Amino acid sequence: MNQLLIAPLPGNEAVAAVLGRQLNAEVVSLETRDFPDGETYLRFCSEIAGRDLALVCTLDHPNTKLVAAYLAAATARDIGARRVGLVAPYLGYMRQDKRFKPGEAISSRHVASLVSSVFDWMVTVDPHLHRYHALGEIYTIPTRAAHAAPLISKWIKENVMNPVIIGPDSESQQWVAAVAVASDAPYTVMEKIRRGDRDVEISFRDLDPMTDRTPVLVDDIISSGRTMVEAVRTLRSLGFQTPTCLAVHGIFAGDAYSTLLEAGGRVATCNTVSHISNQIDVTNLLSEEVRKIQA
Ligand code: R5P
Repeated sequence: MNQLLIAPLPGNEAVAAVLGRQLNAEVVSLETRDFPDGETYLRFCSEIAGRDLALVCTLDHPNTKLVAAYLAAATARDIGARRVGLVAPYLGYMRQDKRFKPGEAISSRHVASLVSSVFDWMVTVDPHLHRYHALGEIYTIPTRAAHAAPLISKWIKENVMNPVIIGPDSESQQWVAAVAVASDAPYTVMEKIRRGDRDVEISFRDLDPMTDRTPVLVDDIISSGRTMVEAVRTLRSLGFQTPTCLAVHGIFAGDAYSTLLEAGGRVATCNTVSHISNQIDVTNLLSEEVRKIQA
């Protein structure tokens, strides 16, 4: 194994710098800009021939980022890099994992094919696995997923008195159970009906709300924010104290963050997507997984 080079795509410089220090790897720059018509110009500013390279590119709002990551990986191979990996702290395009209506794209599969066609390995944090059990069901390259649950539990222990961990929907059960055990707290799961991208209803099936405890909502992703907003509103209407909303990936599309604050939630996220709410650092987890996949 030769010494790893790390190259951040735009916006990933801070995480790449920390990874570089943790992995004792040299961080090299990529020059990128948009042509007037929006196409991407890209150039490696260092010699990478014969070297192992990790491109760092988190994949929220992924359309433009995916093209840049693809071009960077393809170029790296073209100019002689030995193995090219992708460190994607947030892996987008995992939620469409089924054809719900005839003719729909199962985009998770197609994006997995695209990434697998140009990268040798991939490392991420808590990919959204609902109908898939593992990334290997759709990715054909070696992949490793770090899990933020222990860090989330640690944050809860340090920041919340007398918590009850609450999942906003049945899909969050896996997070909530793991986080609750490690936080020495009870947990419960709410029920979600999603009628559209921004039309969500959240309720308790079995009303055992434990209103004397501090509610901590835990989910993998906050995207439109509707799930968390409706969960916060439901909890407030039941007489709970200010809920804490914790997510691994805070995407906060549009006005999601301000709407969640207005609804009465206190928000904290992991730094897989750079955001003002980042309070839990997962870079160390990524380094560990890169080390393992490189070994
Ligand atoms: C759903 O399956 C996920 O775990 C999240 O609950 C969901 O992606 C959140 O989306 P939004 O913020 O758009 O409601």
